[in-house]
Formats: sequence, structure tokens, C-alpha cells
Amino acid sequence: YCFGVRRAMNLAFSCLEQSRQGDIYSYGPLIHNRQALDLLENKGLKLWPEDWETNFPTLIGATTVIIRAHGLAPETESALRATNVSVVDATCPRVAQVQRLVTSEVDEGSDVVIWGSSGHPEVEGLLGYAGGRGHVVAQLEDIELLPPFEKVLLVAQTTQDYEKWEDISQAVLSRWPESKRINTICSATVNRQKEARRLSTECQGLVVVGGRNSGNTKRLFEIGKAAGRSTISVEGPEEIDSSFVEGLSSVGLVAGASTPLWQLRAVHQKLASLSRSSESSPFAFAKRFMRALVLSSMYLGLGGGCLGIAAAGTVGYAAPDYFFGLFFFFVQAMHLLNSFLDPISARYNEPDRGSFLKKYGFYLLLLCFGSFVLSFTAAALAGPLVLMVLSLLCLARFLYEIRLPFFLSSLLGVKSAKELSFGKCTSAAMGWAVLLTAPALLSSPPLLPHTLSGFFQVSVIFLIVFLQVLCRTLLMDFQDSLGDRMFGRRTLVVALGWKVAEKFLSALLCAWSMVLFVGCFFLPHWPLLLWLWISGPLFNAVIFWRFMKKPSFGDFKQALFIDSQFLLSVIGVAIWKLI
Ligand code: F3S
Repeated sequence: YCFGVRRAMNLAFSCLEQSRQGDIYSYGPLIHNRQALDLLENKGLKLWPEDWETNFPTLIGATTVIIRAHGLAPETESALRATNVSVVDATCPRVAQVQRLVTSEVDEGSDVVIWGSSGHPEVEGLLGYAGGRGHVVAQLEDIELLPPFEKVLLVAQTTQDYEKWEDISQAVLSRWPESKRINTICSATVNRQKEARRLSTECQGLVVVGGRNSGNTKRLFEIGKAAGRSTISVEGPEEIDSSFVEGLSSVGLVAGASTPLWQLRAVHQKLASLSRSSESSPFAFAKRFMRALVLSSMYLGLGGGCLGIAAAGTVGYAAPDYFFGLFFFFVQAMHLLNSFLDPISARYNEPDRGSFLKKYGFYLLLLCFGSFVLSFTAAALAGPLVLMVLSLLCLARFLYEIRLPFFLSSLLGVKSAKELSFGKCTSAAMGWAVLLTAPALLSSPPLLPHTLSGFFQVSVIFLIVFLQVLCRTLLMDFQDSLGDRMFGRRTLVVALGWKVAEKFLSALLCAWSMVLFVGCFFLPHWPLLLWLWISGPLFNAVIFWRFMKKPSFGDFKQALFIDSQFLLSVIGVAIWKLI
């Protein structure tokens, strides 16, 4: 989403989440994207009727009306504000800036020429601000048809083609040499058009994703066509036929400003799957292998095993080999189970995983079951204490899913623990921390926390694992925040908002670094802690601030990237053992 659409969507979600009674309406479709509007409608957003002024008494249950991102004519807005409903203004700030410009120039005695599409809500709003002195031109020829004016201001609808601005501006200048011409095409539009032009020269085909009635999406499609590329405009992956990519060595993908990320991800996933089926090089084989490793949760299982061994290593405990199997199988089984229990996230946030689960669901279910059996076998080898820990973790996972008793659900305001915004982050981190601390409790001489230093050492291991998994979950949630909010998943990032969540992540990384730093003074293998700082807080900080602020395609590479931190952690143990 561009900035204005994201803001409008967030305002709508906030209104819908906060409304306890009464109906929430939007004045006209909030944005130009059918799938996003369907989601809002499912959450209860209604469309304010066009004949509301005559019909108003029937809208008695209405409490809030949201002004769409394209803005509204001032007289309509004033009429709306004169009613007893509360008005939430979701007009894009860039559109509002053009509205202010038009008002001030009209006050100075100018007529306003608006280069845009007649009937488009943004243009209609600007005409309202021009108060009868606005004139719409759709193309160059229309300028000659305008009556003579004394003073003229030329502005553009924010989603016009920036390459055509110069021609329009020159035509206005030659007709009114004293005219003021202000290019009001928004930077989000310009950037998308530049990308579409670049992709049209670099690729043989272009796929444009976005609503059919979205002006800026249409413009992107026209750019691809004008460049002579094989171009299609789609709203979703189902509209892409395999015949489209036949004979094309590369396809560019570009999205309109109101296209949700999950829609773009789904189309990318479809194109990637069409591309995969035609690749046969050794590199393609390696890529397919890594994809299977990540999407079957084996890679994360491997990460769990590595982190467990590294954490035990910090206190000098060489965990028996079966502990690696225990961590590996249990983490893999739990992660697969979570994917099966949360199909919405797999489908929309990680469409690559969603399609993998759909295709190999039966085998993955068998893998999940087999991994549980093997993890319990390893736990039985480790002894009754570890077996009990594993059983309690399974019980906690079950309780996390079921409905809370009435008094607890009314106290917390949620039906089950998984609806708590901090539930997902902390439960996964707690589960890993309890599991991975277990071997330290069994070491010899025992580290059982009956001495102060034993208690301290176990606590350090627990905190290292807890903070690392908490940060990993947070990183994933940052990437999926908009999708999570749309589909009603209350993650910490959704609950806190991006900015506060970013501060929270910074605080976590600092706390984690502090734990490792303090641990250096008390634990016997401090160089390992130094390594864990590099593969932990430093690695997470770099991937968040360098890469995670940009939206990803939600394919397996994202998980591969983030989960590599666990594998990195064990490199320190290997070096430490070698020396
Ligand atoms: Fe606003 Fe530009 Fe988007 S005007 S709604 S940020 S395309």
C-alpha cells in the first residue's frame, strides 16, 4: 500500500475494532481494491448510501462515517458534519494538500484546470474545493476547448502519468503564459510508474496487480502495453494462465498503490511456481531442496537443535547426542502443527508455505506425527524429568487453543489465550526456553538451581533462548503486520502499532545484549557468549533495520534468512570444541 491507502485502512480497522455499538460506514468505497473492501465489509464496514440526505432518518444506528482516501467535496463534508454522526477523515494527506492549494488559489481569483478523469472521486472533491471555478481536462486537446480565464492554476489528479505532465503543462503555458502549474502527482504514483517502465525494459512480460477500477493500476498496465511488452492486469493469482509465461524468460511484477501485500504475494507465488516447474539446472535443484527443508519446518527444527546445543555449551555442558534429536523433532513437530492450526496465516502471509501445505498436506501430517513420536522417544532416553517437561509443553499448547473459563475470558476480554496480543510471541519463546533449558538441569555436576551460581547459570540459558525466540517471532510479525490486522490476528505488532513495536524490539535487543554481557563474567565459556551476541542481537538488528522494513514476498527465503541465526549459533560451539 501507498502511504495514503495504508493510513485509510488503518483508520478503518481502528474504528471497527473500537466500535462497541452502532454502525461504521465509509463515504464511497474507501480505496479502489475489491478484495480489501470485501475484507472490510466482512468486518462490518458498510457503504454510506448516496441518497443519505433524504434517507437519513433510516440511518439512525450509524455512529461513524469514514471519508475515503480520495477526499470529499467541502459542501458534502460540511453537510455530513452537521449530522450527529462522528466523521473520521481518511483523506490522503497528499490529496488534502492539493485541496488546500486549490482553495487558496481560488481565493486569489484563479480558475483551476484539473488534469484528471472526470467523475473520479478525487477530481470530484477538487472540483468542490474550486467552488465552480474548476475545469477538468482529460487530454491535451481538451485544453483548447476551455473558455478564456484571467488567472489559471494547473494541478493534476495525484495518480496521473508523470511522463505526460510536461506536455499538459506546456499546453497550458502556451495558452496562459502567466499561469501557475504545480505538479501534484504523488511520489507513490511516480515511483510505481518508474518501476513499471524499468521492468518493461528489463523483462519480456509484465504482470500488473490491482483493482480493475484503480486509476493508478490502469496507468501501470498502459505503461507495459506502450513498451510493447506482453502485459496482463490481474486482481489475483487465479487470473494468471500458464500460457502467459510460455516463451518468456523473465516477467516483471508491479502493483497499484491500493493493492494489499497478500494479493501481491499470492500472484508472486503463482509466478514462482510456474517458473519452478520449468527450471532444471543444479542451482534450481538446490533451491527446491532448500525450499522443501524450510517449508517442511525441518530447517527450524535444525535451528532448535543448534540453539539448544549452543545454549548448553555456554555452561560447559556437552549435551548427549539424543538431545539434538529431541530439540529437532519437537520444534519441527510443533511448528508443523502450528501451520496446520493457522491456515489463514499460511495462506495469506506466507503463500509459499500455504501452497506447500496444500500440495503435501498428507505427508506433512505424517511427518508431524512421526516427529512427535521421535521427540518423545528421545525424551524417554533423557529421563523422566525431560519426559515430563515435554508432556507439559504439549498440554500448554492444547490449553492455548481451547476456550478460556468464563471468569478468565471476561477478565482478559478474549475467548482463548491465542487471542492475547502477546500470547503468540511469548508462548513460543517460553516453550523453546523451557525445552532448551532442560539439559542444563541434568548436567553433571548438576546445575539444578539449588546453589546461587547454578540458579544463575540456568537463568542465563533460559533468558538467552527466550529472548532469541521472542525476537524471531517479532521479526516475522513485523513482516505480516498489515495482513495480520486484516485477518484479525492480534499479534504484538498489531496491538502496539509499528512504531511502538519497533521500540519494544530495540529494548529487547538491548536486554538480550545485557544478559550476554553479564553472563560473560559468570559463565565459564564467555567467548561462546560473545559469538552468541554476534549470531543473536547483532544479526537480528542488522536483518531488521537493513532488510525487514521493506515488505517481502512471504516466500521460503524470508524464513530461511531469519532462521539461519539458530544455525549460526552452533558454529561458535564447533569452534570452541575445536580449540
Ligand atoms: Fe495518497 Fe498518493 Fe496513495 S495521493 S492515496 S499516497 S497514491
